[in-house]
Amino acid sequence: MVKEKAYAKINLFLNVVAKRFDGFHDLEMVMASLELHDVLEFRKNTTDEIVVISDLEITKDVKDNLVYQIAMFLKDEFEVKEGVIININKNIPIAAGLAGGSADAAATFRGLNKFWKLNLTHDDMAKLGLEFGSDIPFCIYNKLCIAKGRGEELVFLKTKLKIPVLLVNPNILISTKEVFKQVKSDNIIEKKMSDMTNAIFNKNFELISRELHNSLEEITFKLNPEIRKLKNHLIDTGLKGVLMSGSGSTVFAIENKKNKLQYSLGTLRDDYYKIITKIR
Ligand code: C5P
Repeated sequence: MVKEKAYAKINLFLNVVAKRFDGFHDLEMVMASLELHDVLEFRKNTTDEIVVISDLEITKDVKDNLVYQIAMFLKDEFEVKEGVIININKNIPIAAGLAGGSADAAATFRGLNKFWKLNLTHDDMAKLGLEFGSDIPFCIYNKLCIAKGRGEELVFLKTKLKIPVLLVNPNILISTKEVFKQVKSDNIIEKKMSDMTNAIFNKNFELISRELHNSLEEITFKLNPEIRKLKNHLIDTGLKGVLMSGSGSTVFAIENKKNKLQYSLGTLRDDYYKIITKIR
């Protein structure tokens, strides 16, 4: 049996730079991997079939799940004769801006690479992964980095932040595609990314909190005012470094003093998903 952890991510910084001819957008991001993770297990199947089992329904039809699609792709591409049973233990909220789906997809590459002895490098898997989603290359490595292009041009920052993070998800499912559709040159605020990367290099927590930025926030907030309210509520409870992750709907807060996060968590609605985790 092979076991792989699929780590959630947050974007400490996200600029939308330009719309591209292929329908995607060029981005400038700082991406951080979290301790929060799903667990994928890969076991021998007695037949040559691919079976995907999850403790939570991810897609109505399992064939729409990236985990299934990537397993099929690898089996075909590398002419694997055996089947596999993949068990997904889901902890990361779905369609929440935490790359839960991409993390599972990347863990499928890493897991089947070991299980079927495919001898792929991380770079090989990142390249293949991009065909299935923009966040998958990052999720292959799970290291603090700058990401450009669609999100696949990665420059690792070679430092670890290990800052406690509160994640709050108001149970709103966000379609990344729908959010990007609303991007216009007049509704995008850009910020200088070097101020954030300098703050990270200097491990200046105050400055990191101040330089948090996400160009997609305003768009998602307009579509879902409840998410803006949630961000404002967290700020009202005394937290300073508060930002929406990716295209939403998760709002996160970074804070060195964990008890401050615990206090804010206690003020939140019971039906919201909330957890304190850490940047890895
Ligand atoms: O790559 P992924 O499947 O995660 O992207 C979902 C959608 O988000 C894309 O179909 C595209 O509309 C949008 N997107 C984008 N630019 C990116 C990443 C995603 O426009 N860099």
